[in-house]
Amino acid sequence: MFFGLNNILKKILPTGLFYRSLIIVVAPTIFLQIITTVVFFDSIWIKANKGLTKSLVGELKTLSDIYTGKDLSQISYLTEQFKFNFNYVINIKDEKLPTTVSERKYSPMDRSLRRELKSVFGSSNYWFDTIKYEEVVEIKVKSNDKIIQILFPRERIAPSSVRLFIFWITLPSLLLISIAIIFLKNQTKPIINLAKAAEKFGKGDFVSGIRPSGASEVRKAAYEFGKMAKRIDRHLKQRSEMLSGISHDLRTPLTRLKLQLAMLNQKDLSVKMSKDIDEMESMLNSYLQFAKSQVQEVSVATNINKLFNEIASEKNNKNFHLELPVQIVLVGRKNALKRCFNNIIENGLNYAKNVYVRISKSTNKLNVYINDDGPGIPLNQYKNVFKPFYRLDESRNLNLAGVGLGMSIAEDIVKSHGGNIELSESNYDGLQVKISLPL
Ligand SMILES: Nc1ncnc2c1ncn2[C@@H]1O[C@H](COP(=O)(O)OP(=O)(O)OP(=O)(O)O)[C@@H](O)[C@H]1O
Ligand SMILES: [Mg+2]
Repeated sequence: MFFGLNNILKKILPTGLFYRSLIIVVAPTIFLQIITTVVFFDSIWIKANKGLTKSLVGELKTLSDIYTGKDLSQISYLTEQFKFNFNYVINIKDEKLPTTVSERKYSPMDRSLRRELKSVFGSSNYWFDTIKYEEVVEIKVKSNDKIIQILFPRERIAPSSVRLFIFWITLPSLLLISIAIIFLKNQTKPIINLAKAAEKFGKGDFVSGIRPSGASEVRKAAYEFGKMAKRIDRHLKQRSEMLSGISHDLRTPLTRLKLQLAMLNQKDLSVKMSKDIDEMESMLNSYLQFAKSQVQEVSVATNINKLFNEIASEKNNKNFHLELPVQIVLVGRKNALKRCFNNIIENGLNYAKNVYVRISKSTNKLNVYINDDGPGIPLNQYKNVFKPFYRLDESRNLNLAGVGLGMSIAEDIVKSHGGNIELSESNYDGLQVKISLPL
């Protein structure tokens, strides 16, 4: 049962840290306020109001009883006393009771007044009005064919102003909630910043100096995250710098070898060897090019539709078919993304005839499908083709230029954007490459 309740609560409650913390502060405050108001209203205000009304109606009864008596001197003396001591205005009128009902429906004051007057004077011998005058209540009571009109201050039966009470109980709560909002905003901001930085870093962006702020635990997390990001960054840089250094250094002995081969007398051997050396050279060149493009590129809002149109016009190939049904802007490293799409498209154009590119958008992802009608890749080779310098034997035999870096570069770029790249069989009989990138 509690499990179900828990699930319902999870669905209703906001997911953000700020709003959750706010509820933790606000809910008890409001709850307390409601309880205080109800208790005050029920046990203090209404009970006091009842008591006051009872004693007031008792006084009125005394007054009305005096008028039924015969002793005129006593009547005028007592009337004076009432006026003087209880702040009453008393008029004796020769008229009928008004027939209009002016009782307010949901007023506890009117209700207890009616009840008391009814029980003392009977249901048809009184009339009252609490709204005609702001601070004064008017009551008319029938006595001996005459009407006694009594006007008295409202505060005689209303213990205190309800509005004032509500104002004083609401004001501190509002103040408390405002202070809580300011404090909670300040406390949750560093966590949000840290989450944003982690997301950025996860997408392969460089996070420059995240400033630790907020509570000590959050500060420590931010500080440690910053240190970790720097370490990973340094490590990556070191790796690619080392590899490009090696590649660069290898070019000199290769050139030397080529020169020596040119001078070799056994021509058939030298031709074969220089072919191998050429291949090695193009591998090194490709790697160096890749290493160069890895140099920190900043993420920008990139219009994906524009990017593909650019690729299409550069290719200018009638076998390249583009379908862009949605408009997508994605924050990413534009040149890297272009290189990634280009590599896959280039493969399609090399190993197949037609290439079909289609983009689509799901909740928070961009999906790019690149299909071709070529021979495809055997299922057991899906993993291998992403390895650097790996080429299928058929491709090698085709004598197509290429070193086997295209797919691994593409994968690297996609992964560094927090995305995913998947191979499958295409509906056009060839290969389908699906690239998904978070928006
Ligand atoms: N669309 C495709 N159809 C068939 N085979 C493919 C396709 N795309 C890639 N391959 C196979 O996967 C291998 C690796 O591709 P990858 O793009 O990494 O290297 P490459 O195209 O040989 O060289 P380059 O570095 O110039 O791109 C290719 O050699 C090829 O055998
Ligand atoms: Mg390729």
